[in-house]
Amino acid sequence: MKTYVVANQKGGISKTTTSIALADILKRRGNTVLFIDADQQGNATDTFKGEIEGMPTLYDVLLGDHIKASEAIQKTINGDIIASDPLLREADSKLSSDPEGEYRMSMALEGLEGYDYVVLDTAPALNWILRNCLVAADEVIIPVTADRYGLQGLASLAETIGVIRKRQNKGLSVAGLLLTKYNGRTNLSREIKDNLEEIASSMDTKLFDTTIRESVKVREAQAMRKLLFDYAKNCSSALDYEDFVDELTEGED
Ligand SMILES: Nc1ncnc2c1ncn2[C@@H]1O[C@H](COP(=O)(O)OP(=O)(O)OP(=O)(O)O)[C@@H](O)[C@H]1O
Ligand SMILES: [Mg+2]
Repeated sequence: MKTYVVANQKGGISKTTTSIALADILKRRGNTVLFIDADQQGNATDTFKGEIEGMPTLYDVLLGDHIKASEAIQKTINGDIIASDPLLREADSKLSSDPEGEYRMSMALEGLEGYDYVVLDTAPALNWILRNCLVAADEVIIPVTADRYGLQGLASLAETIGVIRKRQNKGLSVAGLLLTKYNGRTNLSREIKDNLEEIASSMDTKLFDTTIRESVKVREAQAMRKLLFDYAKNCSSALDYEDFVDELTEGED
């Protein structure tokens, strides 16, 4: 089982879009995939049409009374998901006062069987749930945008990853920075590209060769709670995500 986490504490830079596309493509390629929505906003849960009421959610798995991850999995038409929960807002204060507070996600995933991949979507925050995800993950994917503020905050994310790599999860690696929502008509400025490559190398990683172009179909699919590949599998973003997954999984067995 391989666990990917999509993270960047900056908001609106395509974490949810990227994590859903990744999970969906891996599934379409014949793998078993579990999606975990670790963002209390619940955007991915909404797209998957997951239930929050009457079902154990990620909150129960992380903080409930002996609820196993396997008991919280919902099988939806868009794939298997452990749903988010607005209660996750309260998780930070609880996790920070718990001696095992950074290990709850990895403990939950340890007993999980039957999945080739787990894909975690995270909130725009450097919070305890994100740390839990990083402690549990094999690889981090960091979406970034090419606008003026797209690179803000990466230093503190890098620092958090660095600390976790030293202490709680030596096996954690950064798969790469992924440029998203890219308007292909404008040339990526040399300055931004250099900057991205520099940041990537300071995190011992690379900038993915693949860039995800902007497409109106992404917003349309999201508004209709459809997977991009069901709605517009040939739009530029969908094609780019296929290339991205090729690049990400290259050399994997
Ligand atoms: N390739 C794309 N083309 C066009 N629009 C996109 C693309 N990727 C994402 N978007 C749009 O940008 C917005 C933010 O995307 P998304 O929700 O994936 O970001 P996020 O990083 O998960 O946000 P948050 O930090 O709030 O969780 C959404 O409205 C989404 O439809
Ligand atoms: Mg999101």
